[in-house]
Amino acid sequence: MKIFDEIKLDKDGSSEHLYIQLYKVLKALIMEGKLKKGDRLPPIRKLSELLKVNNVTIVTSYRMLEEEKLVYKKVGSGTYVALNFQNHENFFQEQKTPLIDQGHIQLEENAINFASATPSTDLFPVDDFKKVLNEVLDRDKGSAFGYQESQGYYPLRVAIKEYVATYKIVTEISNIQIISGAQQGIDIIAKGLLNHGDYVMIEGPSYRGAMAVFESRGAKIIDIPLEKDGLSLQDLEKKIIAYQPKFLYIMPNFQNPTGISYSLEKKKKILKIAEKYNLLIVEDDYLSDLNFCNDENITLKSLDHKDLVIYIKSFSKIFMPGLRLGFLIVPKLIYKEVLLAKHTTDISTSGLLQRALELYLKRGIWQQHIKYMSTQYMERFEVMVESLEKYMPQEVQYSLPTGGVNFWFKLPEPLSSKELYEIAVKQQIVFAPGHLFFLSSKEGSYFRLSTAAVTVSEIEYGIKKLSGLINELIRKQNHHSDQTNGYTPIL
Ligand SMILES: Cc1ncc(COP(=O)(O)O)c(C=O)c1O
Repeated sequence: MKIFDEIKLDKDGSSEHLYIQLYKVLKALIMEGKLKKGDRLPPIRKLSELLKVNNVTIVTSYRMLEEEKLVYKKVGSGTYVALNFQNHENFFQEQKTPLIDQGHIQLEENAINFASATPSTDLFPVDDFKKVLNEVLDRDKGSAFGYQESQGYYPLRVAIKEYVATYKIVTEISNIQIISGAQQGIDIIAKGLLNHGDYVMIEGPSYRGAMAVFESRGAKIIDIPLEKDGLSLQDLEKKIIAYQPKFLYIMPNFQNPTGISYSLEKKKKILKIAEKYNLLIVEDDYLSDLNFCNDENITLKSLDHKDLVIYIKSFSKIFMPGLRLGFLIVPKLIYKEVLLAKHTTDISTSGLLQRALELYLKRGIWQQHIKYMSTQYMERFEVMVESLEKYMPQEVQYSLPTGGVNFWFKLPEPLSSKELYEIAVKQQIVFAPGHLFFLSSKEGSYFRLSTAAVTVSEIEYGIKKLSGLINELIRKQNHHSDQTNGYTPIL
């Protein structure tokens, strides 16, 4: 095709790698409709001769297009454009999350709920909170109901500065931003920093609520596979170079959904990489308080000496989700953008609740509550571990987390967790099928069980029953394979 003859790469003047230049040119040709669905890209050797670059340059740029599903390979035949521009729009539309896939799972009243990672309401410290609320009302009267500073109630930010010091996070009061829940934190970061078409990197799998935010801003999401001790660093670096993302969103402690905690070594290496490429990292710390072993699960922010980490803290999992309270620690570089986004979103977080939380922290009731929550969650955690060891079929792969509430499993292929879900729901057991947490719904064999909203007695009963259902599926599958692969004697 003639258009390939017209491709020009800047071999001397540009600081951009040749494979990125080529990837961008080819992508633009597809986006502009100059390359259409079914068009064949030139064979690697031919294009490398034409452009006078080596084969690896062509292979890498084709692979990048393939990762974005803009092209596909046919074995022994070549690389083809996967879609027309109009369909390309649809491709990003398709990534939009249906409501059910955002974690809205229908629950029967008596169901055993392994799906929710939110604490059951009996754990909420209602009486203690009532006392501080009444105290605030008597003390502050009407001013508790006036508009508040967008950045947050100053005494609460002072209390938070002291609170995060216990996590070895050193920050200024002026860097703390009060938010109406971590979800709002993710949203205002995206609102402040992202433009339509920007790239954002996440862990694969990741928290569905964050993906939905990035999609709603028109961002393109790239996932990086998780290994046992955190992100794949090789993949991370390669993709930073290829996509130049606006930021990386991660949960380094007790990741949602996998429960994985990054090793200290990996946390440090990720910060080094961030420094090298001047990459902002959004650390969503929704749960690091629930550490049930002796390993130090330090936050990334505690190690961040270059001010590249935006730290998000939610109080939902360890306190009360309905309060809609949390905070950000925002690097100086982007503070203005985030503050403006907060202001345009809801002006400020509820003054009454901020004041009550400040008293709650100042009086030390907070520490007592965290201790209480830890013992409650730890008991559930231990029963869960025992039940898994006792009942979960060997064919199911999982590794135990060291804290938190999430456990992540892989069914033996080709069993699908959606199929298991359909069967389990009928038996009053719900959990979160794994495809909810991936960008591509191809990952069908994973599922997440959470211990946040189940009682100790429900855990053992639920795991026993669920394991029975999995065994049944495995048995049926084996039976089916025996039949389809069976030998027929020749008589
Ligand atoms: C990883 C993660 N981040 C953020 C949130 C949202 O938290 P919040 O209730 O504080 O908005 C959740 C809720 O499930 C979560 O799992």
